Amino acid sequence: MGTVGIIGAGAMGSGIAQVAATAGNKVFLYDTKKEAQDGAEQLIIKMLAKLEEKGKLQESAVSVSERITYATDLDEFEPCELVIEAIVEKLQIKKNVFEEVEAIVSDTCILASNTSSLSIASIAAACKNPQRVMGIHFFNPAPLMPLVEIISAVQTDPELAANMKGTIQSWGKVPVFAKDTPGFIVNRIARPFYGEAIRILEEDLANVPTIDWAMKELGGFKMGPFELMDFIGNDINYEVTATVFKEFFFDPRYKPSFTQKRMVEANRLGRKTGMGYYNYGEDAVNLEPDKNDGLGSYILKRILAMLVNEAADALYLHVATKEDIDLAMTKGVNYPKGLLAWADEIGIETCLNALEELQSEYGEDRYRPSPILRKMVKKGETFFG
Ligand code: NAI
Repeated sequence: MGTVGIIGAGAMGSGIAQVAATAGNKVFLYDTKKEAQDGAEQLIIKMLAKLEEKGKLQESAVSVSERITYATDLDEFEPCELVIEAIVEKLQIKKNVFEEVEAIVSDTCILASNTSSLSIASIAAACKNPQRVMGIHFFNPAPLMPLVEIISAVQTDPELAANMKGTIQSWGKVPVFAKDTPGFIVNRIARPFYGEAIRILEEDLANVPTIDWAMKELGGFKMGPFELMDFIGNDINYEVTATVFKEFFFDPRYKPSFTQKRMVEANRLGRKTGMGYYNYGEDAVNLEPDKNDGLGSYILKRILAMLVNEAADALYLHVATKEDIDLAMTKGVNYPKGLLAWADEIGIETCLNALEELQSEYGEDRYRPSPILRKMVKKGETFFG
């Protein structure tokens, strides 16, 4: 790429700056807050030193960090060939920043947003040349998580987006292409991992550790849904769910839960507040899982059927290719298998039956199977043949 500008030196911006500099780019990192920049600088130096110690850097940590300039003014972005914005998740503020930076950089500079939930089309609309705007969505922490979603808005030049794949690969990351739809790939498909787990809890079919045990022990997930929500932060997870729900015009499939909302209201945000679905206090005593195979299999089957349905529906609606959908869930959120390959393994008909049973039992649109599953069962097809 060459010279990369990053706006916002918070959790994501600092991580992306580290990734770009490690890949050999000259980086300008800008933030309106001096403290954020200082914090980013210290963090990047520390992270690079650790990588150097482990022999994971091709050159010295110092030479990598010397490629990063902590810009005090956005005007310094003039030589940038790519700008990635990673500021606060507020549309109007992002639009203002895009408008401002577009006036500084050259006509060929690509402008990208790391937004998790806003539409790229709405951000691109702030620019005079919206064809050069796209989404480049990293996962937290950016230096460690391999996945990057490349998102084209209706305005984006398809060639620019296609060429971005090579750049992202040269940064040592795994790129996938996603349509400009709510939650893109990962944050859309992963919703039931949390939502259906909470629903099972609300119905009192199992307690928190039992649901986590079932998903880890029987499903092979690295973390259970409640452990993961506590790790991400219930406030952040709730916000993503609420945004996806609203952006999908209140489709009941993405409906947030009162349980999660109350956790946020009670400041039980998870690890960061010492209390979430689990108590993280020193002398805390948490419930034990009920390691009952029948119950565990029911939990896994129900949550997995919902996840498969989301993955299948994303394919049905051409959000991404089947290969990219499976890659996204394994590289973006560490799922043990791609959901579509997993569906092939379980059997498409078994997945469809599980959803139909849930829909008939609860009578809720939440459980409606994607039309692609019905079509595939009729034709005897599998996702990967
Ligand atoms: P953060 O709150 O850690 O950092 C945001 C930074 O932007 C702050 O340092 C703030 O001072 C700065 N900022 C705000 N307005 C600015 C402006 N007008 N000009 C320059 N700097 C400005 O936020 P975080 O978590 O890094 O998120 C940034 C973006 O990345 C958001 O769009 C978020 O949705 C997205 N994202 C976040 C992920 C996460 O897990 N935290 C994962 C993937 C994407």
